Amino acid sequence: MIKPLLIKGGRIIDPSQQIDEVGSLLVTKGKISWLGKGEAAPPQSDHDVLNARGLMVCPGFVDLHCHLRQPGFEEKETIATGTRAAARGGFTTICCMPNTNPPLDNQTAVEYVKSKAASEGVVRVLPIGCISKGRKGKELAEIGDLAAAGVVAFSDDGEPALSSYIMRQALDYSRAFDLPITDHCEDTVLTEGGQMNEGIISTKLGLRGLPNAAEDIIVARDLALAQLTGGRLHIAHTTTEGAVDLIRRAKEKGIRVTAEVTPHHLTLTEERVIGYNTNAKVNPPLRTEQDIQALIQGLNDNTIDIIATDHAPHTEADKLCEFALAPFGISGFETALGSLMSLVHDEQLTLVTLIAKLTHEPAKILGNKYGRLGTLAIGTEADVTLFDPALEWVVDTRAFASKGKNTPLAGERLKGKVMATIYQGKLVYKVDSVKLKES
Ligand code: DOR
Repeated sequence: MIKPLLIKGGRIIDPSQQIDEVGSLLVTKGKISWLGKGEAAPPQSDHDVLNARGLMVCPGFVDLHCHLRQPGFEEKETIATGTRAAARGGFTTICCMPNTNPPLDNQTAVEYVKSKAASEGVVRVLPIGCISKGRKGKELAEIGDLAAAGVVAFSDDGEPALSSYIMRQALDYSRAFDLPITDHCEDTVLTEGGQMNEGIISTKLGLRGLPNAAEDIIVARDLALAQLTGGRLHIAHTTTEGAVDLIRRAKEKGIRVTAEVTPHHLTLTEERVIGYNTNAKVNPPLRTEQDIQALIQGLNDNTIDIIATDHAPHTEADKLCEFALAPFGISGFETALGSLMSLVHDEQLTLVTLIAKLTHEPAKILGNKYGRLGTLAIGTEADVTLFDPALEWVVDTRAFASKGKNTPLAGERLKGKVMATIYQGKLVYKVDSVKLKES
């Protein structure tokens, strides 16, 4: 029998209940059973104690966009390693993209991911199904079958749904199944051969650019199709000032759209590519300070609903090559909170907004179908993240649980660190300095 666990004396921040105060949480049989303010003592005394003094205690983070690579690319990541990396990053629910091999465009592939996650994962894995068969953009996938298999959204991520006809059909289906269509917005005709953001730096480096317009064009088209169909559109990894403007105006008109932004697009500019750093090669590309400011403004005025990692692990060999040959992607789970906290330290985002964008807001997009997530409400599954907002640490990719060491933040100092992660009442990650007292 697992003993109840008292998470004692932390600053509890739960935007879903507008809670922000020091107190303690009791976890019993995997559920949140009690929340006490200040020094209040729990109703029962026979429990283990996790000392949370000086730490933030919030709902486990919910990530609507990551790549776990299994099946097919197990050399880059597996469900076992990816979910452990997620736990180290404070994520207790992660939605994995279907650009695997085979892609998640049929029930069997989805069932495979779900069964691997159940047997080898340490956090909740919710698969995303393909929009089109084989992610080829030619023919709609079996949307009804995939919905029945339990996918939480549809996406051809890595590729846009370039055919407006397919996108229209997908958005029509999204209404029937009440599941979002997550589009990777890139006009690939315009970006062919593109390696980084198009601008002065790409010119100086002699690399072909991916212009902002390539993103804006597909965002504008998708919004028009969402208006036409009344479907549920979710914009993946928003990066441009233009896209933020378009989404803001669409929301004003009542179009059903939600949008995400990644930690790297919020904190790093295209300058990271200088020196042909393949670990800064990502799609959409790192943009400019002006885009970053628009993205932050978008988060603050709720044009952008959530932060999602787009954790995209690759092997060292994949990235140890000429820039043009390297795959796009940044390994993001384990640095997400540390890099995002820079926005809080710089007073560009409040701590409560940041936590909302990682917990309650993504949970709202998922709805209640998978249990009530992103909350510390009594009776819900105990998914809890503890972090130290001020602890400074140096990113050491050798310590990553992820197989993907591909981050431009390697060797850098971040301020803010996940200290413990609890999933369904079980401690799935803890640093040594957080003390667990077993009774
Ligand atoms: O950088 C990226 N990597 N962008 C994507 O859209 C796909 C992803 C991947 O799968 O590696």
